[in-house]
Amino acid sequence: MANKLWEKNFEVNKEIERFTVGKDRDMDLYLAKYDVLGSMAHITMLESIGLLEKDELDKLLVELKNIYAICESGKFRIEEGVEDVHSQVELMLTQKLGDMGKKIHSGRSRNDQVLIDLKLYTRHELKEIVDSVKLLFDELIGKSNQYKDVLMPGYTHLQIAMPSSFGLWFGAYAEGLADDMLFLQAAYKMTNRNPLGSAAGYGSSFPLNRTMTTKLLGFDSMDYNVVYAQMGRGKMERNVAFALSTVAGTLAKMAFDACMFNCQNFNFVKLPKECTTGSSIMPHKKNPDVFELIRAKSNKIQSLPQQIMLIMNNLPVGYFRDLQIIKEVFLPAFDELKDCLQMAAYIINKMEVNEHILENSMYDPMFSVEEVNKLASAGMPFRDAYKKVGLEIEAGTFKADRNIHHTHEGSIGNLCNDKIQNLMEDTLKCFNFERMTNAEKELLK
Ligand code: ARG
Repeated sequence: MANKLWEKNFEVNKEIERFTVGKDRDMDLYLAKYDVLGSMAHITMLESIGLLEKDELDKLLVELKNIYAICESGKFRIEEGVEDVHSQVELMLTQKLGDMGKKIHSGRSRNDQVLIDLKLYTRHELKEIVDSVKLLFDELIGKSNQYKDVLMPGYTHLQIAMPSSFGLWFGAYAEGLADDMLFLQAAYKMTNRNPLGSAAGYGSSFPLNRTMTTKLLGFDSMDYNVVYAQMGRGKMERNVAFALSTVAGTLAKMAFDACMFNCQNFNFVKLPKECTTGSSIMPHKKNPDVFELIRAKSNKIQSLPQQIMLIMNNLPVGYFRDLQIIKEVFLPAFDELKDCLQMAAYIINKMEVNEHILENSMYDPMFSVEEVNKLASAGMPFRDAYKKVGLEIEAGTFKADRNIHHTHEGSIGNLCNDKIQNLMEDTLKCFNFERMTNAEKELLK
């Protein structure tokens, strides 16, 4: 089999091949489009430094655009016997264009090729995650504003504690997402630097123009030090995974709340029946499986940074094949998180709120602190007021006044949702996705 980029004059043991290729033929399909984009930028640069003729470049670019279109149509495959996406693309070029196809690999290695593929893929996926987070954020803020005057009990220790509101509950998760967005921004910035030209991790004796490929691919800047560029393999994935996992943490907590509040014993929220699932034995069941699956998938995503860290634990400087395994846990995570975010936005939109929770006197004690504060405002020392109300509750004579008045920032009566929206907008402004989309559009023109 002459399909290995590195094959010389002996055949590789089949079992060794099976084991070392592993899941790469499937994993690299995630990267195919980006491998093509990276090659387009690389050969454009090669032509500019005299390593390709202009007519060779033109022919190669046409063929790479064809391969890109095959990727877009979902028909791109890595053939049996071909190791990875990098080999497949080069094979397709040489099949079409002969020796010209073999020229494209000057000044690069599969080590910086897989680095560039991962960066281009990841920044694209981060944009989609950001869009999905924003979608859910908007739903949450919308519901928070809609139900800002509907009270619900707040809990500590899962014991009825103090008045809260649906405005606060929905808005809390919106603000959580605004914070998570900062992690996504850091992840994006770290991702959006060009590793191409680092080759096997030590640069090249060709006078590569890395500034040119940085511009062509719409990166903000480059990973300058070629050794560091290669060290970014695994580090980028881990840091991005941290950003994904902070979002997933917000989702998982919200999903648990929603399951709990949907339980008949709470009866705070309800899902329309078409958004629930039934039981094969109990005819009355309307289960909130959507939230349960969001919770489990989000919890799984939160294990991602640890998985990545353990895979690359204690690797010294330079490339190792260990890094290949990170792709298996990292690449599929984006679709999973996107799915959870979009489903969460969908179901939050459909969620119905019980506006009559407090008619049940069981919740009356949550107004106790309001009463204590009223007495304290009128001049009674706080401790005495606390005792007076406590004794009333014990005696069963406590009367709850539901007319509460909270005015400070972030409280029931003053949610500051406009401020939370500003936090989100300020972070979103810093992403500069246009540079990426414009550069990719320009390359494919
Ligand atoms: N499949 C490999 C990976 O994901 C590509 C790089 C191979 N490089 C090497 N030196 N064997 O890491």
